[in-house]
Amino acid sequence: MPAFPEYRPRRLRRTAALRALVRETLLAPSQLVLPMFVRTGSGIRQPVTSMPGVNQTSVDELLVDARAAALAGVGGVLLFGLPAFKDAEGSSAWDDDGPVQHAVRALKRELPQLVVITDVCLCEYTDHGHCGILRDGDVDNDATLALLAKESLSHARAGADIVAPSDMMDGRVGAIRKALDAAGYSSTAILSYAAKFASAYYGPFREAAESTPQSGDRRGYQMDVANSDEALRETAMDIAEGADMVMVKPAGPFLDVIARVKSETGYPLAAYQVSGEFAMIHAAAQRGWIDLERAMMESLIGMRRAGADMIITYFATDAARVLRAGP
Ligand code: PBG
Ligand code: ZN
Repeated sequence: MPAFPEYRPRRLRRTAALRALVRETLLAPSQLVLPMFVRTGSGIRQPVTSMPGVNQTSVDELLVDARAAALAGVGGVLLFGLPAFKDAEGSSAWDDDGPVQHAVRALKRELPQLVVITDVCLCEYTDHGHCGILRDGDVDNDATLALLAKESLSHARAGADIVAPSDMMDGRVGAIRKALDAAGYSSTAILSYAAKFASAYYGPFREAAESTPQSGDRRGYQMDVANSDEALRETAMDIAEGADMVMVKPAGPFLDVIARVKSETGYPLAAYQVSGEFAMIHAAAQRGWIDLERAMMESLIGMRRAGADMIITYFATDAARVLRAGP
């Protein structure tokens, strides 16, 4: 490589057009997925205080937001449900009449261009708030698998394109794949939350999804934040069990894991920019400490640069609009 003064890197930074010509990483609206929180009822729009612009909505209001997202070119939505009642098993999770199931049917009918992904977990549906069923105060891995399979099947019946298990039970991808195939849903894809860390950044989400564990925490099943070799084992295992896409979550503090998982698996990879990452950018911007739009776009392009194919983010619609508007 030539050295200064033969090589002057600034030559290609002189104008916006030159910079665009040599830009290495691109972000398109179609690569963004918007998470949404759906409740039973109608006419409901309840703001989540720690997440500016994010609401819990009933299906009718969800369609308003989904339409806006689709219009901006957003690729898909990821649905979380707030059921009418919770019990120890989380039985509302596989109620074909539940809010997620209703939302899926409405979205497929009204906005068929959007990819519909459903979050598969029990923590929104159990009265204790854990991601699986409890036995002697511990989450019972193997007994939870059948319930996750039932929930996935109910989402597939409603018409979900992709089911996304986020519980971190061992063996769940295989159990879900088997159940879907046996029921004739071999075309329903699985996006596995393969490397999901026990993170401090989920705080605002637990308000939005009303899924705070009533006792203990999730460290017994989510990954230790210090581990990246383990993330490779987790993703390899889920791929072997039939995952079509894998996820790293959170995204910003784990860009090294995104890069490793992408380069070592070559699989379609989703990065989840979680609630706390979103809330931090908003909080700093509200104080005038950073520029909201620039910090938003910089955080997202960083995930793409690290190797993510798609990004799940509460900024999806806002970022898609910025991309549409151009430089
Ligand atoms: C629960 C789940 C969580 C998120 C998605 N699914 C939180 C948790 O594990 O407590 C976090 C999403 C976010 O913070 O935006 N299975
Ligand atoms: Zn959960």
